[in-house]
Amino acid sequence: MRFGYFDDQHREYVITRPDTPLPWINYLGSEAYFGLISNTAGGYSFYQDARLRRLTRYRYNNVPLDFGGRYLYLRDAESGEFWSPSWMPTRLPLEEYACRHGLGYSVIGGTRAGIEARTRYFVPLGETLEVWQTTITNHRDTPATLDLFASIEFALWDAQDDATNFQRNLNIGEVEVVEGVIYHKTEYRERRNHFAYFACSEPPVAFETQREAFLGPYRGWDAPEAVERGALNNSIAHGWAPVGAHQVHLTLTPGESRQIIFVLGYHENPRRAKFEDAALQVLNKRTVKPIIARYTDASGVDAAFEALESYWESLLARFQVQTPDAETDRMVNIWNAYQCMITFNLSRSASYFESGVGRGMGFRDSNQDLLGFVHMIPERARERILDIAATQLPDGGAYHQYQPLTKRGNDAVGGGFNDDPLWLVLAVAAYVKETGDWDILNTPVPYDNQPGTETPLYEHLQRALQYTLDRCGPHGLPLIGHADWNDCLNLNTFSEEPGQSFQVLQSQDGKTAESVFIAGLFVLAAEEMAQMANGKWQNQLPPTDAPFAIRHSQFYIDAAREMTAAVLAEGWDGEWFLRAYDHFSHKVGSHACEEGQIFIEPQGICVMADIGVKSDLAERALAAVEEHLATPHGIVLNQPAYTRYHVELGEITSYPPGYKENAGIFCHTNPWIMIAETVLGRGDRAFDYYKRICPAAREAISDVHRSEPYVYAQMIAGKDAPTHGEAKNSWLTGTAAWNFVAITQHILGIRPTFAGLEIAPVIPADWAGFTATRVFRGVTYHITVERIGPGNDVGLAVDDTPTVGNIVPLPRDGRTEIHVKAVVGRVDTS
Ligand code: GLC
Ligand code: GLC
Repeated sequence: MRFGYFDDQHREYVITRPDTPLPWINYLGSEAYFGLISNTAGGYSFYQDARLRRLTRYRYNNVPLDFGGRYLYLRDAESGEFWSPSWMPTRLPLEEYACRHGLGYSVIGGTRAGIEARTRYFVPLGETLEVWQTTITNHRDTPATLDLFASIEFALWDAQDDATNFQRNLNIGEVEVVEGVIYHKTEYRERRNHFAYFACSEPPVAFETQREAFLGPYRGWDAPEAVERGALNNSIAHGWAPVGAHQVHLTLTPGESRQIIFVLGYHENPRRAKFEDAALQVLNKRTVKPIIARYTDASGVDAAFEALESYWESLLARFQVQTPDAETDRMVNIWNAYQCMITFNLSRSASYFESGVGRGMGFRDSNQDLLGFVHMIPERARERILDIAATQLPDGGAYHQYQPLTKRGNDAVGGGFNDDPLWLVLAVAAYVKETGDWDILNTPVPYDNQPGTETPLYEHLQRALQYTLDRCGPHGLPLIGHADWNDCLNLNTFSEEPGQSFQVLQSQDGKTAESVFIAGLFVLAAEEMAQMANGKWQNQLPPTDAPFAIRHSQFYIDAAREMTAAVLAEGWDGEWFLRAYDHFSHKVGSHACEEGQIFIEPQGICVMADIGVKSDLAERALAAVEEHLATPHGIVLNQPAYTRYHVELGEITSYPPGYKENAGIFCHTNPWIMIAETVLGRGDRAFDYYKRICPAAREAISDVHRSEPYVYAQMIAGKDAPTHGEAKNSWLTGTAAWNFVAITQHILGIRPTFAGLEIAPVIPADWAGFTATRVFRGVTYHITVERIGPGNDVGLAVDDTPTVGNIVPLPRDGRTEIHVKAVVGRVDTS
């Protein structure tokens, strides 16, 4: 069952009934001001940090679902009836409803009693505000006398404090209302120099700023007393709960349309110019007034919207494909790329499943996210890499998380997740391949943000790899520490007390538990490093008095070979790769285990790292994945699911069978298997796995999937769960980047390398081919792929000249448009 449809031409998903299984959200903003917006106008906004600068309130996990939003009410003066054109919060039936979620904007509205109202919500580029552009049309054949109410509830900035510290917070709310603009200035009198405002393009009839005056005692947003009455009373909030509500009076002749604009914004004043009148503590509005004037004017708003559209157009234009599969096209060309940008902007901070008060930026997550957006925003990717690397510790290890505002490592969580540093190597390699900017390896970067500790970034990478080499266990495999990629495989924790953090607590010395996953990841990273060490950069390296000698390619080739040997000797279980050795050196992910006999992660990463490919081990590992882990809804993480708590394995066994890391379809890992299948040249299987979790391909079962059909979710419930097929934790997940990499670089096979763009498709047998446009190092490549027979052999012609190998040589003559023709497969002579 569907709840809408894809409008590919407008790059929108159109939701046609408001009661989606969960709020289906979108994001507003791309720089500093952000908002979440659901299909019924729920959600909230913040400036930069979802916890510390929360502008509006939202109540997570509340009933009814999805309360707190950008709510409009229309009231018919004749009948006294009122309703919300976004359905929520009044939930009165609409004759017609649509929510168009687009790139950086949403248009939500509907018709009731012949009155249509539609609002376009977006954040103009370069501004710290959001615009609600509402168009109201009278489809009746009689004039309509209406009142429009617009409302928001202010958060008192720190979202966590706002939701807990009532003894203080119910006393501090302050507002000013001047010339129809509502200014929210709680704590401005003391240490804040920022405030929020809510303005309207029409001279409002009246306003309300005290929540209780608007809602009435014991009432909710579904039936505000002031709306019911049809008149706001100009309340000024002192303490309690400041809100912003405007009332606009409208008379529309039959067929008439009117546009009304609301602006919700964030503004800062210089500390010395906070007040217009310090004695009266009146807010200085000098610099904000022109901004409000610009965006309450329709022409300014339309121009800003067009600029936003061009911004997204130019980002997405860097990679566009036309394949035989419409669902692949809409993911690659629109939604997957968009989701990658959202993970760049939001990391894991604020979604329907992340409350915005919790996690910082993950070291491992941020490095992987980069793989998905580096081609769209290489300059910002560079900055991101340098920020991440600056939190690395001198021993090569990493803080597990860092704080986006301070960019410093988070002491509360600390380090010791032994996979973390290796992801930095993959991120830097991806960046250099994309840009050819070898110079980044020479850029001085400090450790733990301590001035004076700077070394070239190259040495950060060396130390990252050395960190693994310095920490190997009894089987010669890397020690796991708190966890590896799987945050919930906690082999040194042994937690018996409820509420203890599985990730932070460490009860064992950590000298025995080993991870086959980290071994595979190490080989992958060492292979990248060997290539970087061999690259153009090497000749440019300045002599350094660094504590480490500079290591060259051969060192990493040898290290990869030795680690591969260790995996083959101690990390193979007979039919698949083992997952780990626990604290007692017992096997995890072995046929000999009672539960958790096989795990997805080592099968994916080891084959990606080329381990066992020359023999038949890789093939057998992937056959085991198909046999034990694959389901029609995707590939589960492990089997059999753990049915009881194993103190020696940690959080993974805390989840009920089929959810999250305990045998859920943890979507992040599925693309590793897709890539592994392409390593073996099996395009049909890779693509089949791709389609199983591809959100667009799951649209038809939206009643089962339940989360948005336009973005990936972190997890789909596995076959052991009663809700098999149900997705959770949509939007902010490494799934976005890895699926983008799997489909574009490995299945379609358009892959940046250090030497240039490689064309190596491993596509389904029945595809006749595809075309693509890829902007790479300033050159636009127009690529046509044609299948001429079975298999994956590639023949290239560049601007009609046959070329040896799979890599398109970088143009040396300043050409910026290149035509590449690739034929795939062998001419069948049988
Ligand atoms: C979450 C974390 C990620 C981790 C994964 C598996 O997605 O953000 O860092 O790798 O879970 O535990
Ligand atoms: C929880 C989640 C897991 C996440 C971890 C660290 O364990 O289940 O996915 O990675 O927390 O934040």
